[in-house]
Amino acid sequence: MNLAGKTAIITGAARGIGAAIAERFAREKANLVLADIDEGAVESIAKRLGAVGIASDISSEEGAQEVVDRAIERFGSLEILVNNAGITRDALVLRMKAESFDDVLRVNLRGPFLMSRAAAKHMIKARYGKIINMSSVVGSMGNAGQANYAASKAGLVGLTMSLAKELGGRGVRVNAIAPGFIATEMTERLPKEAIETFLNKVLLGGLPGRPEDVAELALFLASANSDYITGAVIPVDGGMLIA
Ligand SMILES: NC(=O)c1ccc[n+]([C@@H]2O[C@H](COP(=O)([O-])OP(=O)(O)OC[C@H]3O[C@@H](n4cnc5c(N)ncnc54)[C@H](O)[C@@H]3O)[C@@H](O)[C@H]2O)c1
Repeated sequence: MNLAGKTAIITGAARGIGAAIAERFAREKANLVLADIDEGAVESIAKRLGAVGIASDISSEEGAQEVVDRAIERFGSLEILVNNAGITRDALVLRMKAESFDDVLRVNLRGPFLMSRAAAKHMIKARYGKIINMSSVVGSMGNAGQANYAASKAGLVGLTMSLAKELGGRGVRVNAIAPGFIATEMTERLPKEAIETFLNKVLLGGLPGRPEDVAELALFLASANSDYITGAVIPVDGGMLIA
């Protein structure tokens, strides 16, 4: 699953799942472009991995375009895009501010749309590309307190399948990963009872997943080993979805 000579953009790469994907791709010798809104953290991981680090808000048109332009300027091609950046603004619907709904949809859904549109132009020309969208089991199951987040992650599945249909004939594969409960800063912030409810559904001993578990699937989807797979949504959830 060597990625030597391939250029990969990973958004939200400063920590958690994005950072684990960056580390895994670095071991496979990819040319890495790491984007995150957290400037200090993205610079530090980029330095450590010998990658290009960009402080950018991928939910803005300029921010998304800048990341793709920098990748092309630095490496001359773009084969892999991992749309991983995501946020939560949890509240029950009756108490949810419209702003919290909009913020989550903007980063989790508009961001991947903007990044994919900018990246696909180059991939189509090369007649090869891999786009990987980080959805969630919550997109298929819903979750009390996360209506905005669940809607964004379900929307990402629709975006994934539509892009797969538009781009498949040009050699661009588009797939989604649906993680379950992965131990990161994002899940650390959840209330204790919510964590327990999630973990009770994990068929594999009630244990949380690790960011590295998600990174292994991201690597497979980024590599030539998965060239016949497109439009798929693949869970990494210890069986939570079917529990
Ligand atoms: N942790 C889980 O259990 C879990 C489960 C399912 C799906 N996911 C998804 O996986 C992805 C990564 O999750 P995580 O747990 O590592 O989260 P995290 O909060 O640890 O990291 C997310 C990163 O995205 C960055 N980011 C946020 N907004 C951004 C923006 N506008 N532009 C650029 N970067 C931005 C943050 O600065 C942060 O570094 C997210 O899309 C999340 O929804 C996580």
